[in-house]
Amino acid sequence: MTRVSYVDSDILIIGGGMAGCGAAWEARYWGRNLKIVLVEKANIDRSGAVAMGLSAINTYLGLRYNENTIEDYVNYVKTDLMGVIREDLVYDYARHVDSTVYLFDEWGLPIFKDENGRYVREGRWQIMIHGESYKPIVAEAAKKSASEIYNRVMVTHLLKDSQNPNRVAGAIGFNVRDGRVYVFRSKAVIVSAGGGSQIYRPRSTSEGKGRTWYPHWSSGSSYGLLIEAGAVMTMMEARFSVPRYKDGYGPVGAWQLMLKAKQTNAYGQDPFSLHKEELKKLYNGKYNYVDAFPTPTNLRVYSSLLELRQGNGPIYLHTEQVLTEKNEELGWEDFLDMTITQAILWAGQNIDPMKSPSEILPSEPYVMGSHATECGAWASGPEDIVIKEASSVDERGTSYSWGYNRMSTLDGLFVAGDACGASPHKFSSGSFTEGRIAAKSAVRYIKEHSDEKVSPDSSQVEQLTVKIFEPMERYNKNKGMITGGKVSSNMMWYDQGMARLQKLMDEYAGGWSSWYTTNEHMLLRAKELLAYLKEDFINYAVAEDYHQLLRTWELWHRILTAEAVINHMLFRKETRWPGYYVRSDFPALDDDNWRVFVNSKYDSKTGTWKLWSVPVVDLR
Ligand code: FAD
Ligand code: ADX
Repeated sequence: MTRVSYVDSDILIIGGGMAGCGAAWEARYWGRNLKIVLVEKANIDRSGAVAMGLSAINTYLGLRYNENTIEDYVNYVKTDLMGVIREDLVYDYARHVDSTVYLFDEWGLPIFKDENGRYVREGRWQIMIHGESYKPIVAEAAKKSASEIYNRVMVTHLLKDSQNPNRVAGAIGFNVRDGRVYVFRSKAVIVSAGGGSQIYRPRSTSEGKGRTWYPHWSSGSSYGLLIEAGAVMTMMEARFSVPRYKDGYGPVGAWQLMLKAKQTNAYGQDPFSLHKEELKKLYNGKYNYVDAFPTPTNLRVYSSLLELRQGNGPIYLHTEQVLTEKNEELGWEDFLDMTITQAILWAGQNIDPMKSPSEILPSEPYVMGSHATECGAWASGPEDIVIKEASSVDERGTSYSWGYNRMSTLDGLFVAGDACGASPHKFSSGSFTEGRIAAKSAVRYIKEHSDEKVSPDSSQVEQLTVKIFEPMERYNKNKGMITGGKVSSNMMWYDQGMARLQKLMDEYAGGWSSWYTTNEHMLLRAKELLAYLKEDFINYAVAEDYHQLLRTWELWHRILTAEAVINHMLFRKETRWPGYYVRSDFPALDDDNWRVFVNSKYDSKTGTWKLWSVPVVDLR
């Protein structure tokens, strides 16, 4: 017998990571008397990408000290994404991000400061922190703000209003420890459930299997939830790969920006200098992307890939040239703050970074909206920067604004952090800031719709309550037909589904084993194999316990995310970010025809996708 709890709220926040905590804090500021509920599949004290801690705040402009201008920042982000960003969204979080950093400072986050009390810069836009406890500090603010927090509850689906199919009225999920179903009924919903790792096969194998840079609990739920509900998505093709230290996946930012460590091939040559002229021929576009400073992330990744392909690897980061006894601790702290495995791996492999360089390698692709890329929902821009206003609900997917900042194309549904598309380079501080922006807007939305009656469609709730447990029901019904271990002709466990998903995405949709290269034929094959996987999920997915049930629904979100990625990659007929992927049938960047956003909408009733492009509008 399924146990069900109903929870009513004014604002429901799904995912208590950086954006979710920002949303809780800001919603309370503007909505003193509102009921704010936050639901998180782990525990917000140590959840999300910041769970382990971080070593830097990657987005801080320093406007107070005239260190930068917002315009310079927007230009930097635009160039890094090869000309395709929503300037209204980026400008909007950039103008507020410093205030978020000051809050973190006030709440006790230890930020490196110089003798004048100014933040110590890692790079032009980044500052250094002692960030092991970053997440608990931020979570404390959310805990003080939210009316109720439901930890260990995984949201599986969004709920629609009984009257208006374009209106979101809540969400449903289950407690991953005791199986209780939660039906959240809410006037406004904010999706901030992070990005997607493990959609592509990781490079790690054997006992390290599943080790990735973006955490494996980043299950693409933001995208899965939004896609299935019919929200318009954008830029899902821009899934990206980052240079990371080999095997430990330690980030390189502090090493390259602050310590100025150089990257070379095995023969001491700089990969980008070697390939710059060749890159210019295909990827310079109208805006000289190849000459930009700093070099766009994807072009840096691509030049090392070219060197690796030509047999000039490994690619080294020369830590031994920059680490001295004076700053040795800084190097180790970088990893002990945020990627502890990297420090353990160095110790285990007898690597002393003061004495020897370490290998770096482009990672498998991740689907994200907060790092150097921009996958996510198509959202309404800030109220004071209206580029093209929608005059009807149908026009939202081709417009930039429909009244409520960060509202998706569905009424009452807001997005922030990795969930919000075309708004890259937010990182931790920008994601928290975008959560704040979305929450302020959600408060205004419910105040301006105070006489609206919303309630989830009861038949949808009934169907989903049964559907969530289908994998466990199926297991119990069929367990007598297991041949041995997990071998059964009519059962698919989550790990079997994951292996299929990762293999097909890796081999056909531009993963590392195919040198991030794909074409129409390969993508169509990926689509075909994914359709079989989806069919098998619907008919054969099984789970033996609640933990496996969590993994199973995470797989579903990853499958929907992958479907969006493939369709978007098929639609964009050019190669815009060669280090992220190359379309070998359209190998060049084409600013004349493809400096556009690719948007999509999924129809969950028919299982079909609609895709279209929207022109990029520059603010200046
Ligand atoms: P997250 O912070 O990942 O939050 C998503 C939350 O949603 C999680 O708590 C998750 O458990 C929850 N969730 C997911 N699915 C569901 C579901 N179905 N139901 C309920 N809850 C769900 N940024 C910096 O500024 N500086 C750095 O130095 C830096 N280094 C990094 C190093 C590493 C190793 C990693 C992984 C990231 C780093 N980042 C850094 C990036 C930064 O962490 C992210 O940009 C930021 O956390 C994104 O915020 P978010 O709220 O969108 O996602
Ligand atoms: S992290 O989010 O996991 O810390 P990473 O270490 O790659 O990411 O990057 C940290 C910051 O440094 C980001 O703002 C990234 O864009 C920037 N960055 C990293 N390497 C370089 C580089 N070689 N040149 C310019 N910017 C860089």
